[in-house]
Amino acid sequence: MAGLPPKITISEVGPRDGLQIEKQPVATATKIALIDKLVATGIDRIEVSAFVHPKVVPQMADAEQVFAGIKRKPGVRYAALVPNTKGAERAIAAGADDLKIGAAASDTFNSLNFRMTSDEGARVMTDIATIAEGTKVKLAGVVGTAFGCPYEGPVSEKKVDDLFRHMVELGCDVIYLADTTGVGNPAQVARTVERLRKRFPKTRVGLHLHNTRGLGLANALAGLENGVTDFESSIGGLGGCPFAPRAVGNISTEDFVHMAHEMKVNTGIDLDALIGVARYAQEALDRPLPGMVMKAGKAGERHETNAPRTKLD
Ligand code: COA
Ligand code: ZN
Repeated sequence: MAGLPPKITISEVGPRDGLQIEKQPVATATKIALIDKLVATGIDRIEVSAFVHPKVVPQMADAEQVFAGIKRKPGVRYAALVPNTKGAERAIAAGADDLKIGAAASDTFNSLNFRMTSDEGARVMTDIATIAEGTKVKLAGVVGTAFGCPYEGPVSEKKVDDLFRHMVELGCDVIYLADTTGVGNPAQVARTVERLRKRFPKTRVGLHLHNTRGLGLANALAGLENGVTDFESSIGGLGGCPFAPRAVGNISTEDFVHMAHEMKVNTGIDLDALIGVARYAQEALDRPLPGMVMKAGKAGERHETNAPRTKLD
């Protein structure tokens, strides 16, 4: 296929976006094991946790302990989502390499999620950047609800662009457009990515996609065809925002890596090992996860003619 990038970078967000919405408490040791196993597959960007209010998102209450427990692999960047200056201070003290900052393009969504308007969120990001100055942490940006909001509907292009520009000015090398509730479609993704890449040629436009309406990988392909090389995804297809009605997970890391490798796009990740981690995540959480390749096997897998022909649910 013409026009696909030869190599992409995947940032794994399962331990954060994935686990934040799990109904049953997940043991700190399980989170640590999951992160170490993910990194062992060749993943070199991973969101470890979120330094948010422990009562708002109880699953992230052990962010400090998770950071303290993981084995640091050289060359890997361990990130944390931070909603405000208190979160940034906690994340820096815990040893995060990257701070994920951001705001939603929809005021309603941002007010529910972070208890501030998007403009207030932008000001808080400036304060976070001031705290980060002089430390070794880097900032990475996220524009939430960049393709639409479940409460407000369409979001303004100007708002998306203004938030994006603000994060460029704060020094983010990569800014992810998040389809928080999976309302985007491939044509819209292509258009939006093209617009932002033209306006901000020095900044990497990334994609953070949810599979809410089954369009996750189609949207990712639209990104790939339009020069996107930075993607966020969750092992097993975990994920969902606690403030999204009918939340659905991110695109599954192993399904996306499988698609990329089938199309000769390099990820630097060992897919077989990654499928093993997806199965581990299913066992650890004791429920089936949405990822398909861990159930179906890779496209190249051959079966005996007398293999059991069971239907996958
Ligand atoms: N970590 C821990 N505690 C925090 C905190 C943080 N990052 N930010 C604020 N707090 C504490 C304050 O210290 C204060 O505590 P006190 O009452 O004991 O003095 C209290 O929370 C209220 O502080 P305030 O600044 O008014 O925060 P808030 O109530 O407006 O909440 C957020 C703002 C951002 C902290 C909260 O809405 C939140 O954690 N949202 C995250 C949602 C999320 O993670 N969504 C999924 C990701 S997409
Ligand atoms: Zn998300």
